[in-house]
Amino acid sequence: MRIDDLIVEFDKGLRTLAGVPRAARPMPAGDVEPTALTPEERQEAAALMRVNHCGEICAQALYQGQAMASENAELKRALEQAAREEEDHLAWAEQRIAELGGRTSLLNPLWYVGSLAIGFAAGRLGDAWNLGFLKETERQVERHLQGHLDRLSPRDARTRAVVAAMQRDEAGHARTAEALGARELPRPVKEAMAAAAKVMTTVSYRV
Ligand SMILES: [Fe+2]
Ligand SMILES: [Fe+2]
Repeated sequence: MRIDDLIVEFDKGLRTLAGVPRAARPMPAGDVEPTALTPEERQEAAALMRVNHCGEICAQALYQGQAMASENAELKRALEQAAREEEDHLAWAEQRIAELGGRTSLLNPLWYVGSLAIGFAAGRLGDAWNLGFLKETERQVERHLQGHLDRLSPRDARTRAVVAAMQRDEAGHARTAEALGARELPRPVKEAMAAAAKVMTTVSYRV
């Protein structure tokens, strides 16, 4: 990797962390009138969206690391397209957190660096494993978002619309990875990924 490529990647990281994501697509249900939520519902939604915002920071870093480590142009394009959609997710999550009067995770820089390293390591294992890692990440996120849909207030149409739109995109990313030749990861690896994600989601729910 050349030094100017490194600078570009570093700049991407800073922009992700500085919180200047720009959504290419409009906020889902952006025109739906917000329903009055109870303070508990609002607080819970803000905490869940903080977790999702943190997850999207991790997604940016994972894909960036994976793309940096790969020489395959098609795979790089797929990762960049996915990262582009994750940037919408990041922007939507941020907007919804602001509407709910919440805040983003203080530990985002830490999660970012960790995810970048994990993504790069996955990328070094070769395309089939790299895609397998992408597919499994998306599958786990999809399930995780379903858990949030189950927990969110049925009246919170705006948060639910954002989460549902994310979930649809993540399923699309998993299908893309599969179509490009993702290898199914061994179960212990999937479990280790789930355990790492659990640490992130548990901590960012609070901090
Ligand atoms: Fe996402
Ligand atoms: Fe995704």
